[in-house]
Amino acid sequence: MSTAHLELTGVGISFPTDKGLFCALKDVNLKIAKGEFVSLIGHSGCGKSTVLNIVAGLYQATTGGVILDNREVNAPGPERAVVFQNHSLLPWLSCYQNIELAVRQVFKNSKSKTEMREWIEHNLDLVHMSHARHKRPSEISGGMKQRIGIARALAMQPKVLLMDEPFGALDALTRAHLQDSLMEIHADLGNTVIMITHDVDEAVLLSDRIIMMSNGPSATVGEILQVELPRPRERMALAHDSRYHEYRAAVLEFLYQKQHRPAA
Ligand SMILES: Nc1ncnc2c1ncn2[C@@H]1O[C@H](COP(=O)(O)OP(=O)(O)O)[C@@H](O)[C@H]1O
Ligand SMILES: [Mg+2]
Repeated sequence: MSTAHLELTGVGISFPTDKGLFCALKDVNLKIAKGEFVSLIGHSGCGKSTVLNIVAGLYQATTGGVILDNREVNAPGPERAVVFQNHSLLPWLSCYQNIELAVRQVFKNSKSKTEMREWIEHNLDLVHMSHARHKRPSEISGGMKQRIGIARALAMQPKVLLMDEPFGALDALTRAHLQDSLMEIHADLGNTVIMITHDVDEAVLLSDRIIMMSNGPSATVGEILQVELPRPRERMALAHDSRYHEYRAAVLEFLYQKQHRPAA
């Protein structure tokens, strides 16, 4: 019956703690279409990373499950590449070699050495990082490290790109550049993307749908906002677009009126 590309059905998870079981997520249901760009937004600690980790196969749901192209997800796999807030590049390898490691892992039996080299170079190019291919992570900026992290994920040719606050640690200008690059890449490749953010502007600018999560415990999907702004989107033009401001207000209203900010 299922026609969705990625489907979460009745997903719940409880963690054992000193005070007994803590129910972090309860009955999370979500269907995502191929090529869709979806963002997850919600207060800190509500369970966004937990949802992403379940889709990544890093956590096992206690109830329900995840189906990707009619197959159940129960372990990590290269068809679901993850980009974390902190790049997680290997410090002793160059940018090129960091991507190469992932490419070898995925394509060792299907691409020749030359094809692998071309593929790595293609992905470096996609994130505008060809010039820094021989640099180590310590020799490049935070934004550049995130570009390499994205290139490494894309080089695995994932069905789904999972991003956990990928630009959260970057300054506003760098963040804007990376958002633009991500929009270009998404337009070119048509990846399915799930991105966690707590930046309302970022969510509206990038997403086809914004999944707003309720606070935990037993967090779940609160509301879903369909963002019908035509693509390609231009941040400057959107600044004067009343629909943009309405979407933005709807997310803010959910976060600050319908859900209360949990005590810090
Ligand atoms: N491995 C774990 N063990 C125990 N509790 C966890 C674990 N992972 C997450 N949690 C709890 O689940 C809730 C959701 O966490 P998380 O998904 O990281 O939130 P978010 O990413 O939205 O900030 C939090 O209360 C957190 O403490
Ligand atoms: Mg998180």
